[in-house]
Amino acid sequence: MSKVCVFDHPLIQHKLSILRDKSTSVKEFRELVSEIAMLMCYEATRDLPLEEITVETPVAPAKCRRISGKKLAVVPILRAGLGMVDGIVSMMPNVKVGHVGLFRDPATLEPVKYYFKMPPDIEERDAIIVDPMLATGGSASAAVAFLKEAGVKHIKLMSIIGAPEGVKRMQEDHPDVDIYVAALDDHLNEHGYIVPGLGDAGDRIFGTK
Ligand code: PRP
Ligand code: URA
Repeated sequence: MSKVCVFDHPLIQHKLSILRDKSTSVKEFRELVSEIAMLMCYEATRDLPLEEITVETPVAPAKCRRISGKKLAVVPILRAGLGMVDGIVSMMPNVKVGHVGLFRDPATLEPVKYYFKMPPDIEERDAIIVDPMLATGGSASAAVAFLKEAGVKHIKLMSIIGAPEGVKRMQEDHPDVDIYVAALDDHLNEHGYIVPGLGDAGDRIFGTK
């Protein structure tokens, strides 16, 4: 069974309260998504392996630890996942970015794939899939399946808000994929929106409604 990590850090919870507010502007919404992703990245990368090195300070040699060349990819689910990329890249400037284009068919709520472009050595990389909303879990589950087909062995999912339905679906479909969320909300409404949620993340990031 996968781990579900809910971030209760005050900075994240404070930013999330503004993100949820329907009066928050597109500009501020976009900034907050990026900032929350940056803060979540800190915890989701806690298990990166370190190696010991020695650095010459102006005073003396210092034994230090640095990340031991782990190959990572961040994989946003288009569109809304794009909003989380900058925050993560600002923490890990050398990370490669793969894109999965999916939209939910509004009638069936099933994900429809329209784009898939990964770094050429994706099978050697650990992947962090990012998408602000984990609702039915259909999009995240499909994205994980595509990455597994491409040979990726270690995958994490980072979402800002998760619904219990989406967490359950992910744990059934992909028990090996740990899930990181800033909040676990109550339920989905009849349109597949997370309640209370924050509305349509893609529309709020890109100002398309
Ligand atoms: C939203 C969201 C997720 C998906 C979550 O994308 O960004 O990708 O819905 O729903 P699910 O868990 O039920 O699959 P949407 O389909 O609205 O596309 P967009 O990001 O292009 O707006
Ligand atoms: N996608 C969104 O953007 N919001 C939801 O609440 C559910 C799916």
